This record gives sequence, C-alpha cells and structure tokens, in this order.
Amino acid sequence: MPKDLTVKDASKWFDSRGQQVIALDRASLSLPAGGFGAIIGPSGCGKSTLLRMVADIIAPSAGSILVGNEKPSTARLEHAIGFVFQSATLLPWRTVRENIALPLAIVGRKSKRVARRTPDELIELVSLQGFEDALPAQLSGGMQQRVSIARALVLAPDILLLDEPFGALDEITRQRMNLELLRIWAESSTTALLVTHSIDEAVFMADSVFVMSPRPGRISQVVDVPLPRPRTLQMMSSKIFFDTVNRVREGLYGIDAQGTADLAAGAPAVVQ
Ligand SMILES: Nc1ncnc2c1ncn2[C@@H]1O[C@H](COP(=O)(O)OP(=O)(O)OP(=O)(O)O)[C@@H](O)[C@H]1O
Ligand SMILES: [Mg+2]
Repeated sequence: MPKDLTVKDASKWFDSRGQQVIALDRASLSLPAGGFGAIIGPSGCGKSTLLRMVADIIAPSAGSILVGNEKPSTARLEHAIGFVFQSATLLPWRTVRENIALPLAIVGRKSKRVARRTPDELIELVSLQGFEDALPAQLSGGMQQRVSIARALVLAPDILLLDEPFGALDEITRQRMNLELLRIWAESSTTALLVTHSIDEAVFMADSVFVMSPRPGRISQVVDVPLPRPRTLQMMSSKIFFDTVNRVREGLYGIDAQGTADLAAGAPAVVQ
C-alpha cells in the first residue's frame, strides 16, 4: 500500500574539515499516499541529502520525517522504500534478471514483507523482455536505468525515491523514460518522489513540485500541477503546462511579475 510522506523542519549539517556545512535548512514537505512529487533546485541545495534522509541512508540532524506513521529507519527495515540512483549501480557480472532479483536474495525468507513481485513480472513492466539474460554492459543507459527501477520495485515499496534517474540520458530517451515511469508508477501502487534538474520534467511528472532555494537549501515554494492524468506529451504544449512551468521558474529564480531577478536572494543572474 502506498504511504504518505511528511517531512517537517528537517535539517542536515555535516562537519567538513573542521567546518560545519549546512546541507539542508528546515525543509518541510508533505506528499499524500500514492501521489507523485518532484523536487527541483540548484546544484548543491540538498536534494540528494533530503532523499537520503527519507531513505534512512543518513539521519537528519534536526526535524522529523515520517513515512506513513513510521520513522524512516522502521520503513527501511520493512523494505517499504525503493531507491533509484542517478547512475544505475548494477552489478556488472550479474544478468538483468539476477540484478533485479538481488534485493530478494539479500532479504531472503527472513523478511515478513509479503508484497513482492517476481523479476519476470518486473522485466515485463519495464519492457525488457528478451534481455533477461543480458549483462549490464550489453544494455544502453536507458535500459540500465529500467533495470534499476525494476530492482527498486521488486519488494513492492510503499514509496519510490528517484534521484535524477534519467539525468545522463539524451532528451528523447529521457522523454520516453518519463512516460514509462508514469505508467510504472500508476501500475505499481506506490508514492513517488523524483529529484530533477528539469522544470519541464518536474511539471510533466508531478502533482506537486517542491522548489528549493540555493544553499543552505530549504523548500521555498510548492507549486501544484493542475494537469489531468494520464499525462500525455500533447499536454506539454498546453497553456496550463506553460503557466505552471512559469510559476516553478519564478519560484526557482526569484523573479517577480516584472521579470526582475531577485539577486539579493542569491538567484542566478542569467535567466532564460
Ligand atoms: N557527506 C557529506 N559531507 C559533507 N558535505 C556534504 C556531504 N553530503 C553532502 N554535502 C554537502 O551538502 C550540500 C548538499 O548536497 P546534495 O548532494 O544534497 O546537493 P544536491 O541538491 O543533490 O546537488 P546536485 O543537484 O548537484 O546533485 C552540498 O554543499 C554538499 O557539498
Ligand atoms: Mg544530488
């Protein structure tokens, strides 16, 4: 069952060579169960840090995070969280099917989690039929990312976290992968939270776009996307799409109605 996500005033600071780096400053967001959220913000504003805290890869220095009613550490132990990294991080000596099955092998029979999917079912879901026995090196970048999405889904997570999963792909492949990801999300009964650098991608994919401010990052604005589902590429030429993209852009660059950048807030000087 998909779970909601509540992040409240989450902060993270690191000690780096005797100096304290504030990676995230009181970030808050909430995402309903089964929803699709996107996080967008400049490089270094703490997007990966936020996602890693939700996944219990690192602990917040302050604030609270709840996945459903549980702390991330509990959710992780229950394998309720799936994570897709920017690079596919597949084991090169294992086949597609073996890579997808890896979490099942690691968890073994010890887990009480019953909601599992078979690797073959997932291979079909991510359209990799015929490549079951291929090695990662024999696949294109987009296909490798599909394997890592399938692997993240094998324990049927309640929430799927994606950290710029298609960042390294060309525009056309990326567009196709985005459509596939939406279909997979719709069929998988999971909440999704996607980190992206692309305003268009954030608006196309999400119900809500969480805009982050430059370092130390916090969530400065939430832009709701009033586009219906299922999303289609035609929607990207609609007025609603353009208006929403503009609202995200304004939030990102701190531009007021006159089009003047709010440079005092640390916004980039060049705005397209
Ligand atoms: N383990 C760490 N130790 C010290 N500083 C860190 C650590 N991890 C992240 N940071 C710092 O925290 C800040 C936020 O990093 P993070 O990776 O979350 O940014 P990001 O928004 O994901 O950036 P990008 O868009 O480039 O991926 C950066 O200044 C980074 O240098
Ligand atoms: Mg990052």
